[in-house]
Amino acid sequence: MSTINLTIDNRKVTAEAGTTILEAARSAGIKIPTLCAWTERNHTPGACRVCMTEVEGQRSLIAACVFPVTEGMVVHTNTEKVRKARKMVVELLLANHPQECNFCVRNGSCELQKVAEFAGLKEVRFDYTQFPKEGMIDRSSPSIVRDSRKCIECHRCVTVCDEVQTVSVLTPANRGSKVKVVPAFDLPLVESNCIACGQCIMVCPVGALYEKDDVDLVWKALQDPKKHVIVQEAPAIRAA
Ligand code: SF4
Ligand code: SF4
Ligand code: FES
Repeated sequence: MSTINLTIDNRKVTAEAGTTILEAARSAGIKIPTLCAWTERNHTPGACRVCMTEVEGQRSLIAACVFPVTEGMVVHTNTEKVRKARKMVVELLLANHPQECNFCVRNGSCELQKVAEFAGLKEVRFDYTQFPKEGMIDRSSPSIVRDSRKCIECHRCVTVCDEVQTVSVLTPANRGSKVKVVPAFDLPLVESNCIACGQCIMVCPVGALYEKDDVDLVWKALQDPKKHVIVQEAPAIRAA
């Protein structure tokens, strides 16, 4: 395979032809933040635009996760233009997101939080979306909760359900700004073919998919003198 010579942040980098700017930067130890990309599975929908970079000769900013390197390319990952655009993208994502970090199941491990920190976000200048109280959280499954208010439409869950678990329960519905990830036919998860493997939870970058917490039920059972509580470890499959 032929090699490509390029410059990223004033450093000479060599990459294999066909690799993306993101991969070339990572191989050189240069950090470009990402959100929708799940590079281990080559899942790069180019949806979030968090990974934007400035490439000399290009009129607009370039998504590093999808753009292939070319010979002599000169890339800048941290110019004022890039920082401003990245901040704007993250602000818009957060403005359209419930303000529930304090008690979100992903608080502290949320990739959106990490990206906001990387972008140096101190405020959100836009009005926050007011979400309806009902209808956006699917608690129908005995084990998985889908909170579509928090979904950032990265579609990693669609890819893992389809390509890794080969169940294809989750699918994008609608187009443009109305796109949303749903179980097939927009059914409640419990009525779909979901096998509750949890793979989708593992890849979700935010708190839009999470395990149902039955700790309160366990406490209740433990405190019931008429019950004997038995613990059984589930024979977990690949999500473990
Ligand atoms: S739990 Fe498994 S089968 Fe169900 S939606 Fe998630 S990945 Fe698909
Ligand atoms: S539910 Fe999670 S993994 Fe699926 S599209 Fe939304 S944010 Fe991405
Ligand atoms: S990580 Fe590149 S567009 Fe989302």
